[in-house]
Amino acid sequence: MIGVFDSGVGGLTILRGLVRELPGRSFVYLGDNAHAPYGDRSPEEIYRLTLAALERLFGLGCRLIVVACNTASAVGLRRLQQDWLPRAHPGCRVIGVLVPMVEAVTGVPWSVPLAPAGRPLGAARTVAVFATRPTVESGAFVREIGKRAPEISVVQQACPRLVPLIEHGGSAAALREAVEHDVDALLARTHGAAPDAAILGCTHYPLVQPLFAAALPAGVRLLSQPAVTAASLRAYLARHPDLDAAHPAPARFYTTGPADAVAGLAARFYGQRLAFQRAPG
Ligand code: DGL
Repeated sequence: MIGVFDSGVGGLTILRGLVRELPGRSFVYLGDNAHAPYGDRSPEEIYRLTLAALERLFGLGCRLIVVACNTASAVGLRRLQQDWLPRAHPGCRVIGVLVPMVEAVTGVPWSVPLAPAGRPLGAARTVAVFATRPTVESGAFVREIGKRAPEISVVQQACPRLVPLIEHGGSAAALREAVEHDVDALLARTHGAAPDAAILGCTHYPLVQPLFAAALPAGVRLLSQPAVTAASLRAYLARHPDLDAAHPAPARFYTTGPADAVAGLAARFYGQRLAFQRAPG
């Protein structure tokens, strides 16, 4: 059983990609809706809440967890993997959504999707990152891209209006205006130069991906986080067969928040209504 964690319902966009790519696996999803959005929280709060959520998923019997939240992956994951996990849950693994995107954009060998023209994504020289404020402030995308491909220049843009607008069912016009505002702000910092690739570094942004595609200059490659994460998880399981207990079962959905309200919101992110239960513990 593979755990999938997010601050709320946004990680369902990632889960959908995982279920599509790995239909033979069973997944258990946990949304920390009682404390979402993480984009409004401090790094210490995000670390503490992520740790508590991972404990819940380990308590449900997971040995491998995908942190499908960019904010939690960017802010807390490295520290959790280094300081806490080996001590608290030896033999268990937690992976995030940030590194797969970085590997895709820098062209590190495994799980690197090719651009439509067959050009490796590693050919990018300027990469735009759109994300929540804590993700941008963590510098994690810049740091991880820099480690693998220091020649790539990374331009970041925090988009604090987008998550609340998407969750509260903002109108198409309001969403378009917010995306255009964020893209314009980023392009102002590149003096109008188009990036080669753009990372939508937040679980919610696949829902407005066509708006980003329309607002960005033509030819910018948009990386799809659900597809990239799914390809990366497939490769990870091939390298760690001990963590790949393939016994198909329908996914289960837990939340720390009110199950009915969360199920209503979740349908928009997953494309169908899901039976959420209150998380144990
Ligand atoms: N899941 C978060 C992310 O991917 C977005 C929602 C939030 O701020 O909690 O960054």
